[in-house]
Amino acid sequence: MQRNTARNFIFTLFAFLLAFSVHAEKLPNVTILATGGTIAGSGATSTTTVGYTAATVGVQQLINAVPELSKIASVTGEQVFQIASESMTNEHWLTLGKRVNTLLAQPNVDGIVITHGTDTLEETAYFLNLVVKSRKPVVLVGAMRPGTALSADGPINLYNAVLIAGSQDAIGKGVLVALGDQIHGARDVTKTNTSTPDSFKTPELGMLGYVQGPKAFFYHATTRKHTVDTEFDISNLSVLPQIDIVYGYANMNPVALNAFIAAGAKGIIHAGTGDGSVAAKVKPDLVAARKNGTVIVRASRVGNGILARNGEANDDELDFVVADTLSPQKARILLMLGMTKTSNTKELQRMFYTY
Ligand code: DGL
Repeated sequence: MQRNTARNFIFTLFAFLLAFSVHAEKLPNVTILATGGTIAGSGATSTTTVGYTAATVGVQQLINAVPELSKIASVTGEQVFQIASESMTNEHWLTLGKRVNTLLAQPNVDGIVITHGTDTLEETAYFLNLVVKSRKPVVLVGAMRPGTALSADGPINLYNAVLIAGSQDAIGKGVLVALGDQIHGARDVTKTNTSTPDSFKTPELGMLGYVQGPKAFFYHATTRKHTVDTEFDISNLSVLPQIDIVYGYANMNPVALNAFIAAGAKGIIHAGTGDGSVAAKVKPDLVAARKNGTVIVRASRVGNGILARNGEANDDELDFVVADTLSPQKARILLMLGMTKTSNTKELQRMFYTY
């Protein structure tokens, strides 16, 4: 009799533990890669929202400041860099992109959050959007106020980013940007204000969704290729082609253009006025640069809209490429990666209509 009772108890206990383990919500494994910025910044007083020091707080301190993270993910942190993002370089991007790909290839990593300064956050996000070789979520997050400030936005932004990175719904959406309870796609998001918490927007093409309470809600998806569907591979790259941007304005001259070319630029993004217009004083030098082998991409300083091919310049005749709807700073990234594969302008134009 006693033996049966013991056997029944052990069976019942085993069945309960099995049921519990099956139904217990397994938390996603999310790695936080910290690079610096305001989200890791500190100011002299609680009302210092400008004039603080970026990149002073380490990744573990960022994680410790949001204990709620342990309820939504199993989080590990890595301090990849500790810099203000205006100082981000191609070398930083190659290091970061390779680390992301190495981590995402591991079955025990479900998603990645990258904490980053907001100045160049949109650029790093787009670079990763073109070189990450996984469908797993990669979410860039920053803050417009340092953690020492009243109503600091970093902790809630970090919480939301980890939530998204662990979300099944974020898989296959491309690299994402999460600030202010909003979810943006890497290709079209941009910083629109120097200091206010609502700075990140996707002005006309639209953000992808929201974070509300314990969930990420997606309403849109990009139509352009990204991550596993791109043709770019940085695994064997240690340097990227030098591409520079010349900014268009009234009374513009070709001095900057010629200086960039003399310094070895392989490609130039011409951030023209309006629909990528080229000033009469600059056009001869731009045409000569193309004839000498520099790839020229016409973009616009305006910020929204399609850059029409053969609109403000005869691109077919001059052998220029147009940036489609990419901002000048993102056109630079696509041209840089494109020129790791080709200098053929027809192929490069195809890329601008694909990514
Ligand atoms: N120095 C700027 C940067 O690291 C601070 C801006 C910020 O991170 O919000 O991008």
